[in-house]
Amino acid sequence: MAEDFFSPRNIIVTGGCGFIGSNFVHYVYDNHPDVHVTVLDALTYAGNLENIRGILGDRVEFVHGDICDAELLDRLVPGHDAIVHYAAESHNDNSIANPEPFLRTNVEGTYRLLEAARKYGVRYHHVSTDEVYGDLALDDPARFTEETPYRPSSPYSSTKASSDLLVRAWHRTFGVRMTISNCSNNYGPFQHVEKFIPRQITNILEGQRPKLYGDGLNVRDWIHTEDHSSAVWTILTRGRLGETYLIGADGERNNLTVLRDILTVMGRDPDDFDWVKDRPGHDRRYAIDATKLRRELGWTPSHTDFQAGIRGTIDWYVNNRAWWEPAKAATEAKYKRQGQ
Ligand code: NAD
Ligand code: DAU
Repeated sequence: MAEDFFSPRNIIVTGGCGFIGSNFVHYVYDNHPDVHVTVLDALTYAGNLENIRGILGDRVEFVHGDICDAELLDRLVPGHDAIVHYAAESHNDNSIANPEPFLRTNVEGTYRLLEAARKYGVRYHHVSTDEVYGDLALDDPARFTEETPYRPSSPYSSTKASSDLLVRAWHRTFGVRMTISNCSNNYGPFQHVEKFIPRQITNILEGQRPKLYGDGLNVRDWIHTEDHSSAVWTILTRGRLGETYLIGADGERNNLTVLRDILTVMGRDPDDFDWVKDRPGHDRRYAIDATKLRRELGWTPSHTDFQAGIRGTIDWYVNNRAWWEPAKAATEAKYKRQGQ
């Protein structure tokens, strides 16, 4: 059984100007009016203050800063009762091109936050990924569980795995009150155009052909980002200390199917795309078994109709061109240099 509810009143959300972090800040703002959120974000290429501008005020405050800055954390953390840690370098392809920022932000940044949580007795929730478990074969009936051994493949996923291990060590050795969640692939509004689904939608909107890596049969386990937010809130407030929970919504689909869905919804020929060079070390399949989260904490996803979720996401990119257009040309130029 889960322990008594934890009722945070004043939380720090790192990376709250990124894709999933900003969706979480909106989720807390919309559903928990008694909670104050301090967003700590360095506004890297992936962070955009516009994601939360409409809700900045008494209940949501923004601090521009780096999670590796220990002095800033000393000033910021006291007085808060929880840190929810989303900030990261998050894109696999970038980690292959240049791993260094991944080591700094994902490993050192997590270390700095853990030290602050330890020093000021603040509860800590660590947002991580299913990629720490490596990949599964397409014909393997298995799915990832909390017991699956760590076997990360990319520089990105190995830094996330490292950060998970630091969190566990800080719990066992120093008693930091923590929980960890490992979630599958998110989709929804505010996702950077470098990622698979927004890249293809915005390519089509710009009259460019979508780009599919390898044979297109790699499987991802898609979850709407709002369901990720509700799961993180559930784990933060009801999860058992020291525990890891996997988050997923039974959304396995291969990339070719997802791309053809997008093309069809947008009124294009489902074969109107380019096959491009594969990602080195490309994980074949991810699949989450979220039984522990569902049974122990009673969480269920709301967005169970993937087609409806994709239509909503396409509408968001159609209606928010000013949000994504500034990043599009540089992102595609980078992919072009990589042959992708
Ligand atoms: P994102 O790249 O969209 O956003 C990352 C945010 O972190 C940005 O706002 C950026 O400015 C900020 N940031 C980066 N370095 C920082 C630093 N040193 N100090 C302060 N802020 C910094 O990432 P995302 O896709 O929203 O992912 C958020 C978290 O969720 C990550 O920890 C990621 O590993 C995890 N996750 C992502 C997915 C997914 O499908 N995208 C799935 C599971 C878990
Ligand atoms: O599983 C969770 C992870 O999901 C998170 O930890 C990562 O932060 C997040 O970026 C995501 O990682 P992926 O590498 O799975 O996501 P990405 O959007 O980069 O790619 C999804 C799939 O689509 C993958 O199999 C590669 C493929 N792809 C990607 C791009 C950008 C293409 O075929 N074409 C593309 O243009």
